[in-house]
Amino acid sequence: MSEKEKKTNEGERKEGFGHISRREFLRDAGLVIGGSTMGSIAFASETEAQQQVKESDVAKDPCSEESADITTIELTVNGGKYGFRVEPHWSLRQLLRDEIGLTSPKDWCGGHGACGSCTVIMNGRPVLSCLTLACECDGAIIETAEGIAKAKHPIIQSYIKWNAFQCGYCTPGFVTTAKALLDRNPDPTEADVRDALAGNLCRCGTYQQHPPAVLEAAEALKRK
Ligand code: FES
Ligand code: FES
Repeated sequence: MSEKEKKTNEGERKEGFGHISRREFLRDAGLVIGGSTMGSIAFASETEAQQQVKESDVAKDPCSEESADITTIELTVNGGKYGFRVEPHWSLRQLLRDEIGLTSPKDWCGGHGACGSCTVIMNGRPVLSCLTLACECDGAIIETAEGIAKAKHPIIQSYIKWNAFQCGYCTPGFVTTAKALLDRNPDPTEADVRDALAGNLCRCGTYQQHPPAVLEAAEALKRK
């Protein structure tokens, strides 16, 4: 590669990635994870994407660079109401653990969205709390593994019966993902369960135990 080409590549790298903040990264990751519609925005050219944000979102977006640094949000967590003043870069995982003291959302992959151990249920859907900005959670209804256990949901007993854990580090992420599946699909097949849990990793290798545990919880819910 010629010196000129090297310099051009260097310049593109700096321009394209060097200035991205953690907040911008989290928001882009959220867009990509959000699905193909949002993904199309993520793949638009930088100028186009910036224009879309500027024209439609900034005025009412509490997480935008133009907003005040501290945002006030209210949310419901495991049935309790909370109000917080949050900094723009805080993740939902950080808020749940450091401000509320809920330790079930874990951090195995360092907040890279790769392990599923930080999964919580937000407005009925499983989300990676490490990649969800706290400032975007105003009005959200959140469930964590603590709330699921407190409500005596059958998934807890089923996981115990089937020994679906060893060290237990990944278990809250599996339990929240499984509970969200059962909420939206009370009669899942084994394939549905495997599909739903595909984003959750377990370093102890307990994968075989999860489908029967979730299917048994589904049966228990039907008898209720
Ligand atoms: S800590 Fe969130 S996916 Fe790994
Ligand atoms: S039970 Fe140990 S990581 Fe899953």
